[in-house]
Amino acid sequence: MALSNDIISQQNLNINSGQKSIALSIQCFETWRKYIYDLCGIYYQDNKKYLLESRLLKRINFLGLNSFEEYFDYVKFSVSNGAEKKYLYEAITINETFFFRNQPQIDAMMTAIIPEIMAQGKRKIRVWSAASSSGEEAYSLSISFFEVLKPKFPALEMEIVGTDISNAVVETAKKAVYKEYSIRNTPSYYLKKYFKMSPAGFELVPHVKQNIQFKLLNLYDDIGMRGMSSFDIVICANVLIYFDQNSKIKVVNHLYNSLNRGGYLFIGYSETLHNISKSFKIVNFPKTVGYKKE
Ligand SMILES: C[S@@+](CC[C@H](N)C(=O)[O-])C[C@H]1O[C@@H](n2cnc3c(N)ncnc32)[C@H](O)[C@@H]1O
Repeated sequence: MALSNDIISQQNLNINSGQKSIALSIQCFETWRKYIYDLCGIYYQDNKKYLLESRLLKRINFLGLNSFEEYFDYVKFSVSNGAEKKYLYEAITINETFFFRNQPQIDAMMTAIIPEIMAQGKRKIRVWSAASSSGEEAYSLSISFFEVLKPKFPALEMEIVGTDISNAVVETAKKAVYKEYSIRNTPSYYLKKYFKMSPAGFELVPHVKQNIQFKLLNLYDDIGMRGMSSFDIVICANVLIYFDQNSKIKVVNHLYNSLNRGGYLFIGYSETLHNISKSFKIVNFPKTVGYKKE
């Protein structure tokens, strides 16, 4: 994107606490918004302009660049653009999560869905935490599996895959060490049994980690998504809210294809598949719903 004098004149190059304070013009916001949308389906609404501005600004200041236009060129055209996308994803995503965020969903899986799948003769359940952020959702499932199902069905196995677009959170997930904030909703009984205190924080015990792998995946990437298949349960929670209608349809269609027949999709508490997909059967569980692939 060429830097017109016009745009440069809109920049307010104040020096504030050693950091440049520059403005994101409407025109440049549109350019960034389209670029981000095409990359990963996240659609920044007009009222989120300030959020995008402040998040990109941190990276711009870190790199010592002078404008949002300059950073756009840096991401898009510089030889290091592959590497820079990693930082861009970190800047534009919201990674809020915590352990046991949606207990009714976990209860539905442990008490109804997995026994239903086991009734088909299966002894290995495959679960995908799509957009797993720093891993709390995936580890909550693993803890629940070891607490609720493994004692009753010792031969049962659960394999969990956690994926996210942001490298920083995937690395945190692999480390499996958490601060107080993440465990604020965790029963103290679980804290004693499944975590050990280390100077770095609350660290998960080895056996609840060994059945989980974390990797990078962009839910908007058709090729990567085609590689995700044969899951019994997919949880894609609190990420569709950042997408627009078309990207939701595209992603949910991939999630449908990633499931085995008889498998279930769960989404966030405040999310819906209304006007997104008619392929699933809605199944009610206490205080939650699951979307079944029949
Ligand atoms: C708010 S967190 C939700 C984490 C967890 N599922 C939960 O409900 O607690 C949303 C996550 O979605 C990820 N995300 C956003 N867009 C994505 C995309 N296109 N592909 C994969 N992950 C994405 C973000 O990096 C972030 O970690």
